[in-house]
This record gives sequence, C-alpha cells and structure tokens, in this order.
Amino acid sequence: MCGIIGITSNKSVSAAIINSLRKLEYRGYDSAGIATLSNNEIFELKAEGRVDNLEKNLSISNMKGNVGIGHVRWATHGIPNNINAHPHSSDTVSVVHNGIIENSTILKKFLVSKGHNFKSQTDTEVIVHLLTEYLKTDELIVAITKTLKQLHGSFALGIIFKKQPDLLVGARRGSPLAVGYGPNENYLGSDSYALKSMTNKITYLDDGEFCLLKKDQVEFFNAYGKKINKKVLELSSNEAIYDKGDFKHFMAKEIEEQPITLKNGIREYVDNINNDINIYNFPWQISEISSIMLIGCGTAYHACLMAKYWFENLTSLDITVDIASEFRYRKNKFKPSTLYVFVSQSGETADTYAALDLCNKNNAKTCAIVNVIESSIARDSNFVLPIHCGPEIGVASTKAFLGQMLILYMMGLKLGFMNKDINKIDYVNKIKDLKKLPELISQTLLTDDKIQTVTATFNKAKGSMFLGRGFSYPIALEGALKLKELSYIHAEGYPAGEMKHGPLALIENGMPVVVLAPRDDYYKKTISNMQEVIARGAKVLLITNKSKDEVFSENIWETIEVETSNNDLLPFLLTIPLQKLAYYSALKKGYDIDKPRNLAKSVTVE
Ligand code: M6R
Repeated sequence: MCGIIGITSNKSVSAAIINSLRKLEYRGYDSAGIATLSNNEIFELKAEGRVDNLEKNLSISNMKGNVGIGHVRWATHGIPNNINAHPHSSDTVSVVHNGIIENSTILKKFLVSKGHNFKSQTDTEVIVHLLTEYLKTDELIVAITKTLKQLHGSFALGIIFKKQPDLLVGARRGSPLAVGYGPNENYLGSDSYALKSMTNKITYLDDGEFCLLKKDQVEFFNAYGKKINKKVLELSSNEAIYDKGDFKHFMAKEIEEQPITLKNGIREYVDNINNDINIYNFPWQISEISSIMLIGCGTAYHACLMAKYWFENLTSLDITVDIASEFRYRKNKFKPSTLYVFVSQSGETADTYAALDLCNKNNAKTCAIVNVIESSIARDSNFVLPIHCGPEIGVASTKAFLGQMLILYMMGLKLGFMNKDINKIDYVNKIKDLKKLPELISQTLLTDDKIQTVTATFNKAKGSMFLGRGFSYPIALEGALKLKELSYIHAEGYPAGEMKHGPLALIENGMPVVVLAPRDDYYKKTISNMQEVIARGAKVLLITNKSKDEVFSENIWETIEVETSNNDLLPFLLTIPLQKLAYYSALKKGYDIDKPRNLAKSVTVE
C-alpha cells in the first residue's frame, strides 16, 4: 500500500511524477504529495484525497527541479490529511515512505530529546529526523546505513537531499521497490507498473539494500553500505491497455474481459493436440509430494478454498488452506513432501509474501500463482504459474479471481492425472469441457437485467447473506466480500448447512439472502436450507444453473440461471452474477467503484 515514485533527470520532473502518481493511485488514495529540489531548496506540495486534488494546486505547474519524489498514501499512522500526507521534510531531506515503522514511538522520543520538532502523526517522520540528525556529523552513506539500521518494521523509501543537487536515494526492507533506467534519467518506483510507461529496464531492490540514483548513474549498496552489483531485467513487452475504453469503470471492463482472459489462460496451459495440461517445468516428481497447502488473502484466499474442493475431488493428496496473515504466525510443521502454493494477483501482498518467506527459510517447496510475473512473490518462489489475465486495475478483484481459479483447477487436474488419481478418459473429458468455459462465461454475462432490478432491495437492507454448500461455499464467501467491499452493505457468506447453528437468528422479514444452488451433488440439501430461510421471511435470490427440471420450492423472490457445465466448472459461472450484483449495487449508490473507501489494490503492509 502507498505508492512511491522518484525521478532524477536532466529536465523538470514534476509533470512526469504526477503522471506516474496517477498510475500508482490503485495502491492508496487518501492523499498525495510531491517534493522537488531546485537551487538547493526543497519544494513540497501535498493534498488530501486524490492526485486530482494535488494537480488542481496551481503552483504545481511552476514546481521546478530536475529531481523529485512523489507519493500516494494509504493511511496507517495518522488520519488522512494534508499534514500527514507524504513527502515529509526537514530543512535537510525529504522522504516518501511505504510500510510501517514499528518502533517509531521510541525513535521519536529519542529525536525529540535531541531537539527535533515533529509536524505530523506519521511514523515516517522519524526517518526524516534520523537522517537529518546523522547528516550533521556523518557522510551520506554512513548516515543512510545508520538510519536504516535503527528502523524496525517494513519500508520502501524515496529520499532527496537539499545539499545533493541531482541525487535520489531508494531503500527497501519488506516493501517492494524498483529502479528504472531511462535516457539521461533514472527512476524509483514502488512497482514496475508505475515505471512501465517510462522504461522497460528494471532492477528490483532486495531486502536490506539501498541505491543512489543520479541522472546518468545508478549504484547499489547492501545493508552495511558496501557496493554491490545487481542485474538489469527487461520487462515483458506485452503492455496491456491500461485504459477503460468505453466502460464507465475498470471493474465493468474487467468483468466483461473474463471470457478473453480465460481463453488466454487455457491457451497458455492446454495442449490442444494431445488434450493435455502443460504445467511447464514443474520442478518435482509427483511422488515427492503428499500434501498441498494453499495460502492467500481476501479473494485469493477464496480461490484457495475453492481449490481445496477441486483438489480433494481430483487428487488423493492431503489439502489444507490458510489465510496468509494467520499462517505466518502459526507454529507450522514444515514437511519436505508438502507443496506450498501462494495465490496472489499482485504478487506483492505483504502477508502472503511473509508466508512465502517463512516457507523459503524452512526449505519448503514453493509455488506462486500470480498475475504480475515480475512481482516479489513470483521472484522468490521455486516455481511460478502466471495467471495471464492482464493488469487488473479495479480494487475489487474479478478477472484475477477467475484466472486464479482457472490455474488452480488445471493444476488440480494435472496433479490428479500425474498421480494416477483420475484416468485418461476423465482427464481428457474434463479438459474438453474446460475449453468450452469461456463461451459459457460469455453467455452468462448476458444475464444483466434481473441483477439490476434486485439491487434496490439489497441497497435498502440492513444486511444480507450469501449461502452455498460444497463447491458453492467459497463462491458465497466471495460474493459477500464483493458486495461489502463495493457497496458497503453488511454481507456474510456462510455454508448453508451452518445456518441452524446461529446465523439463522439474523433472518428477518425482507432480508435479502443469496442462495447458490446449482444442480450439483449438494443441490437438494441447499434447497432445503433455502426453504428454512424463506420460512423465516428472507427474500431469496436463488442462483442456479439452467436445467429442464423446475426448482421445487415456493416463495422464491427471484431466480437467476447461469449456463450449464460439468459440476467442476459451475463455480466459475456462479461468480458472474455475484460480481454484477456488487457492481450495480455500488453504481446505484454512486460510490467510487474502482477505488472503494479505505482500501487499496496492493496490500503491501501487514
Ligand atoms: O494481490 P492479492 O491477490 O494478493 O490481493 C489479496 C487481497 O487483498 C485481494 O484479493 C482483496 O481481497 C480484493 N480487493 C478483493 O476484491
């Protein structure tokens, strides 16, 4: 969370910084700021809210300076306002920070005792004053290493110095940071996305490292201040279109793109000639793996939970699932025969990365399922299966969720086949069915009208519930997450069979309840649970799949039918109306769909 950009150039940098901040807004949008250096003076401008507010400030076009830093904030310490917005500056340095300084209170006490005055409520300001303090007596590299050594927690930093005319410093521990190389200029960015419009030549800093950038020179140092060499990577050139096109929101575009993204994913992994799945260069023998642990956060965790159901059906392996923020602090028993699978759209989620790091430190087998192939999680895993769904800009994950499920499903199928848990005929038939999925998604996307009409009831309700059993349970969780995330309506996902054990008490007259009851092995049981909530006054929106058989139940408020496929694939289809329900509900309320309140796309703090 929070986005950092830094540029040192032979020309004025403020316009380019503002441009990049727009691209970084998905990481945080509470406030934004910029600082540039000109004639040994630091100029600073900040604004509460979006980059637009910052740009409205007329002085920005007059901001001189060939070196500068910019920041978009997702507040951790201190409310989102002008004073707490980054950069934070003293009369010596200016700093932008992504992450959390855990010992900031202790450091602040020490600095106040030395006569430093603090202006903001942020943890970041201690970095400004530590540097200022050390620079009184130490030369630059020593002052930087001393400062970084004092900091506990996570950070990516961009720093400019009043007495260093074209110098830009970056440092990383825990939060990602990349260096980009351009003609007569060099850049710093909290991810490659912000840098892509300026360069495709990148170096990622590793934990503990820092760098000194000038317009024509880049130097890297380790935590002890010793110079090191780093590789320059070339970013993939398939620049996707970071544009809404004719859509009102990125989310709407991303929902509609799903047939194409699934087609791309299938094309990448399915061998059409042999009806086989290629999980290229899988580095282990299947006999070396007896269990799989799937780990993620939020929507990615729901994809993991979905995979548990599939993997248990398709393989004889032991399958467990965990939320990354729980896993990283658990007393885990690492086994050499367990494969740890990390699912993340961004590949930068702090908790998921920490869980991976823990596995790496315990020499575990690790696999990443990510959308951003240059991400930290991809780089530090033994094996990567990219999602190939193109950039997802809307904070609410849609096409990446389907993409994650697709890769996980194909992985389950392949491992089941390799392990001889499913026979060749079933394997080939399931692959053939899978190839039809993009078209079924296209058809399901057409069911729009009914969803638009039901949103009024959801928008008036005190709360709502999403119920499903078996394969539909993770999708119920995802549907509830989407609705609460976008329309701020209280929504709970539950296994339908759990209702009697407490949640049924919440049902009252007129409460909207979404029941996911496709015609699969759980159908009859779910329909019984649905009747129990209807009997208690719930307004049930039933989501099932098309069938010649009628649904035998009275008093269903509304029914939406998705296309029909084999049971394994129904979760993909059930997801579509739930994404649309959340979208239209937020649209009717006039909320900011691509940037819901309090959230950020890439959660790079714990
Ligand atoms: O980038 P990741 O997939 O690791 O992100 C994990 C979650 O933060 C993310 O899925 C979040 O729950 C979405 N905003 C939900 O729509």
